[in-house]
Amino acid sequence: MKVHGMVRVPGDKSITHRALLFGALAKGRSHVGGALTSLDARSSARVLRQLGVGVSALRAGSVIEIEGRGRLRRAAGVLDCGNSGTTTRLLLGMLAGHRFAATLTGDRSLRRRPMRRVTVPLAQMGARFPDMHGDGLPLTIRGGSLRALRYEQPVSSAQIKSCLLLAGVTGGVDVAVREPFGRSRDHTERLLRAFGYRVDESTDGWVAMSPTGKIEPFELQVPGDPSSAAFLVGAALLAEGGELRITGVGVNPTRIGFLAVLQRMGATPRIESMVTEFGEPVGDLVVAPASLRGTDVTAGEIPGLIDEIPLLAVLASRSAGTTVFHDVGELRVKESDRLGLMATNLRAVGVVAEVQGDDLHISGSDHVPSGRVRTEGDHRLAMAFAVLGTVPGARIAIDDMRCADVSFPRFRETLASIRQRGA
Ligand code: S3P
Repeated sequence: MKVHGMVRVPGDKSITHRALLFGALAKGRSHVGGALTSLDARSSARVLRQLGVGVSALRAGSVIEIEGRGRLRRAAGVLDCGNSGTTTRLLLGMLAGHRFAATLTGDRSLRRRPMRRVTVPLAQMGARFPDMHGDGLPLTIRGGSLRALRYEQPVSSAQIKSCLLLAGVTGGVDVAVREPFGRSRDHTERLLRAFGYRVDESTDGWVAMSPTGKIEPFELQVPGDPSSAAFLVGAALLAEGGELRITGVGVNPTRIGFLAVLQRMGATPRIESMVTEFGEPVGDLVVAPASLRGTDVTAGEIPGLIDEIPLLAVLASRSAGTTVFHDVGELRVKESDRLGLMATNLRAVGVVAEVQGDDLHISGSDHVPSGRVRTEGDHRLAMAFAVLGTVPGARIAIDDMRCADVSFPRFRETLASIRQRGA
């Protein structure tokens, strides 16, 4: 199989969530083009409507209109965040500065994901969580007047960081956070700066925000999601010839750590036609097949490629030698236990893969993968194994491909469209 052509990927999931949430805090009408319209984005839109925000229907190709009131209003019912951890954690931050109670829940996968990582620092700021027993959802937050916060995060996570920065915005207080290693995605910081908030990053890792700005109605074009593009990059690398161009992809340095790893593995991806849109760099990703070799992915690199590990892991299984992903314990609390399931599923298709402590070890080979994959509804696992399924002769049965709709509607059709018979 060859790859060919020019393709776009759906809008960036992280930026779409943030655009919806910022639009809710602006007083007036904002317009968001190129947004992701997947299940996760719909979860953010749905809960914001419950909180008194006007959000037009999320339809592929159309511009979303958000009618914000500057503040959120008390919701009538429970806020169902579906499968979306980003919706839940960022919204908790926004709600912390509002003087009413709100109850959040989600699907089975989301209900088991840890929330104390945000409720503990939010409680330090003055928010209350009257019915919190375990670590997950459902939970009720009662916001109010907040205190400034200086907080060292126990894990590197943009969701924690963004939650606390948004609490600083709605509470009108200073917030400084530090992540233990690496830098997680900085879309919230970039948006805040665009609205006049002071956000300083120090060399010792502190990100400090002062509420000097004001969120005004805006027009924003969401770039293509590099995390979705990564799956097509992976398929191109595994092909037998040709070249693929993915246009209009967000290439924010905190999101494209996977490209540096792929370069070490022997790939030669290029970024072309770079422009900056609303503070975010955007470009075309151009990639051709390559023979890959294993590598060590260090703990400091993980926050910059956290969502690309399933894809990198399947590529590692096709690379010469061993690949080790160091300190990836955080994958246990993603949409599934991604760490355990990656190893189990790789073994299920004939790959030598093992979890040792918090590290994932994968031995590469040119053995033709075949077997059954259990995704537990995790979109990124489904897409990663679909990419592995493009290896000539592979016979991989994936139990649920529909879950790809969480972040990449029409993934299967897009994957098929870039492949061409006759190497
Ligand atoms: C996201 C942050 C990441 C990522 C998720 C989206 C965000 O989660 O896995 O898909 O938009 O802030 P963590 O911050 O928990 O690592």
